[in-house]
Amino acid sequence: MSTVIAIDGPAGSGKSTLARALAERLGYDVLDTGAMYRALTVECLRRGVDVTSNEDVSRLARSIVVTTLPEVSVDGHSVGHLLRTPEVNVAVSSVAALPGAREAMVAAQRAQAAASTRGLVAEGRDLTTVVFPDATLKIFLTASLDERARRRGDESRDSVARRDHLDSTRAASPLTQAPDARVLDTTGRSVADLVEEVVEWLANTTSH
Ligand code: DC
Repeated sequence: MSTVIAIDGPAGSGKSTLARALAERLGYDVLDTGAMYRALTVECLRRGVDVTSNEDVSRLARSIVVTTLPEVSVDGHSVGHLLRTPEVNVAVSSVAALPGAREAMVAAQRAQAAASTRGLVAEGRDLTTVVFPDATLKIFLTASLDERARRRGDESRDSVARRDHLDSTRAASPLTQAPDARVLDTTGRSVADLVEEVVEWLANTTSH
């Protein structure tokens, strides 16, 4: 497998922004796994599937194809404009807590990594711990709750805090810091500055 940079962290910590900037700088592909759980949630809501039922959501997850490149889609239909509605913000933590949903999404994420020849920047909640435990570089992003809520301008501080709590306390692959992940606090730092720091880490990691 080519180089994998795995990034985890809570909502609004800057994962998507940093992942995209790093991928551009290094010429890598980017994998936004939160968008995959959101796309699955959109499809559950559209079809009236009970988002608390592991059996029903798993069956749906196994029967559809969720892709993030070139755009987030379900069975080839673009759903990018539906990913951040209040309904999805509430339901996605429930979907992401179901073991069957995670199994299907993790398989799709590993397949995408196997198909990537350029290198991959993958971000989410369990990339460093479960999906890519052997990643070339593991990063855990943090930022203050106030800054994270500000970045998620369309989502309230309470909604962000509620989702963090659910994502960190669920039984299946909760958001946790891998012991070998490097911690990066993004509060008040520019994207360019963060990219430089990670590129330096990567150079030190791969030269050993
Ligand atoms: O990063 P985000 O806010 O778009 O993620 C949406 C939800 O999906 C979030 O509540 C946590 C969940 N998620 C997850 O459980 N595992 C991942 N690898 C990525 C996201």
